[in-house]
Amino acid sequence: MRNFSLLDNILNEIDQSLRVVHATAPTTERPNPANGVQESAPLNEDERDMISRLMRINHTGEVSAQGLYRGQALTAKREDIRVQMERAAMEENDHLNWTDKRLQELGGRKSLLNPLFYWGSFTIGAIAGKVGDKWSLGFVKETEDQVIKHLEEHINQLPAHALTDMAILQKMKADEMHHGDVAMQAGGAKLPFLARKLLMPLMSKVMTKSTYYV
Ligand SMILES: [Fe+2]
Ligand SMILES: [Fe+2]
Repeated sequence: MRNFSLLDNILNEIDQSLRVVHATAPTTERPNPANGVQESAPLNEDERDMISRLMRINHTGEVSAQGLYRGQALTAKREDIRVQMERAAMEENDHLNWTDKRLQELGGRKSLLNPLFYWGSFTIGAIAGKVGDKWSLGFVKETEDQVIKHLEEHINQLPAHALTDMAILQKMKADEMHHGDVAMQAGGAKLPFLARKLLMPLMSKVMTKSTYYV
């Protein structure tokens, strides 16, 4: 087994980031929840436009999740946590691909801000991993809670016949709940009040508001 130098790691991470933003990244064996699901009535133009914006937000959310998990995996101290982070990152890649595919079907486009959100999240993840595993796991839980909140908002905005989008978002929501639970079971600490109530919701707002348009 070869030991990776800092430069190896940096190059590996740059490679990974380019794949997340521009190509298909490694995924799990799980099927797309939209397979075989069809709208019960066709989407009109306004609905397509609105849903493609929601999918763009979700896609960027998954780009950020990649950055976060990769950053944490790089600096996590406990081996079991690093492995867990890598599995979660692969599941987030499923989400990334599902939302990417759906975005294409709807004729939408990905956010131009994706590289910015990837590297911003990567940096935060790497710092959280450095500060200590219990905080980085607590951070996962808090991040997932924010994602669940905006997924719920999106689910509520979907027209009742948008069954394809419903299937994708529901499955993502279930996965994010699982990621949050696993992080706490692995020893995650509850983040300080200000981080939970101010900082994290603010970061989530910035991401969801900007990528609705850009
Ligand atoms: Fe996700
Ligand atoms: Fe997740």
